[in-house]
Amino acid sequence: MQLITLIPGDGIGPEITKAVTDIFAAAEVPVQWEEQNAGQTTFDASGELIPQALLDSLEKNRVGLKGPITTPVGKGFRSINVTLRQKYNLYQNVRPSKTTPGIASRYADSGIDLVLFRENTEGLYSGLEMYDEHNGIADSIARNTVVGARRICRAAFAYAAKHGRKKVTMAHKANILKVAGKVMLDAAQEAAREFPQIQYEEKIIDNMCMQLVIRPEQFDVIVTTNLFGDILSDLCAGLVGGLGVVAGANIGDDMAIFEAVHGSAPDIAGQGKANPTALLRSALMMLHHIGEHAKADQIEKALHLTLLDKSKCTGDLGGSASTSEFTQAIIGNLGK
Ligand code: NAI
Ligand code: MG
Repeated sequence: MQLITLIPGDGIGPEITKAVTDIFAAAEVPVQWEEQNAGQTTFDASGELIPQALLDSLEKNRVGLKGPITTPVGKGFRSINVTLRQKYNLYQNVRPSKTTPGIASRYADSGIDLVLFRENTEGLYSGLEMYDEHNGIADSIARNTVVGARRICRAAFAYAAKHGRKKVTMAHKANILKVAGKVMLDAAQEAAREFPQIQYEEKIIDNMCMQLVIRPEQFDVIVTTNLFGDILSDLCAGLVGGLGVVAGANIGDDMAIFEAVHGSAPDIAGQGKANPTALLRSALMMLHHIGEHAKADQIEKALHLTLLDKSKCTGDLGGSASTSEFTQAIIGNLGK
C-alpha cells in the first residue's frame, strides 16, 4: 500500500476529493490516504494556514493529491500553492490538454493533444516584491536562474523523448525581457541540442496565444516560464472543455503533488455542481507516477465511457447530474 497525502482544500475541494477517493475505493486501487488539510478552512479552525503535520506527511510520503486552496486575501499571506512548490522544489508544473470524445468544445474535432511544462518555482512568482510607498513605485521582480531554467527545459525535452512526442515549443518574451527571458531561451536551446531527435521551435508569447487559438493542434510539448505558463494553461483548458476537465502535476526530483488546474470555485462550492474530472485526471497522473498503470487505465476508461452519456455529466459539461451522480456513474462503468 502506497501512502498518499490527501489535501482536500477549500471550496469545491472536499466534494471533488471525495469523488476521487470513492472511485479509487471502488476500483480497489492499492493506496492509503493520509488526510491533512491546509488553506482557508484550516486557518479558520486552527489559525494555521499550512499545519506542520501536513508538511511532515508530505516529507514522509513524497506523493500528494491536493484539492484547490483559497489563500486568505490580506497582508502577510503568501499563496500556499506557491509556498509548497518552492519549499519542495516542485519545479515542473505539467498540464496536459487533450480533446476527449464527449467533452464539448469548439475545437472538439481538431485533435488537440498538448502538454504544457510551466516553470513552477521562479520567474514573476519568486516573491521578490517591493512597494516604495513614498514614491508610489511597485516592483515585482522576475528572477530566473540558470539552474532553474535548465532543469525545466530539460524536463520538457526528456518528457517529449520518453513519450514519443515530436516537438517542443518554447514560449517566451526574450525580445523585451532581455535578461530573465534570455536565460530561459538559452536553456531551451541547450536542451534542444541534447535531444536532436525532438523538433524545437520558439514562439514569442503574444503570438503563441494567437496561434493556440487559431491552430492549437500544431502544438505538442510547450515549455515556458511561471507566469506565462499559468496563463497559457487556463487558455489551453478552454480549448478542450474548460477548467473542470484538465489535470496538473507539480513535480520535483523527490516529491510530486498532483492537483487540478482550477481553483476553489467559490461560486459553486457546496452545491454538488463541481466536476471532479480535473482532479480525477490529476489522480490518474499520480497513479502513473507511482507505477499503477493498469488501475489508471481502468479508471480512465470508465471516465471516458461516462463522458459519452451527457445525462450522467455535470452542468459545465452540458449535463445536469450532481457531482455524486457523475461519480456513481463512473463507478458503475469500472468493470466495462
Ligand atoms: P476557479 O478556477 O476557482 O473558477 C473559475 C471558474 O471555473 C468558476 O466559474 C468556477 O465555477 C469554474 N470551475 C472551476 N473548477 C470547476 C470544476 N471542477 N467544475 C465546474 N466548474 C469549475 O478560479 P477563481 O474563481 O479565479 O479562483 C477562486 C479561488 O481559487 C481563489 O481564491 C484562487 O486563489 C484559488 N485558486 C487556487 C488554485 C489552487 O489551489 N491550485 C488555482 C487557482 C485558483
Ligand atoms: Mg492558474
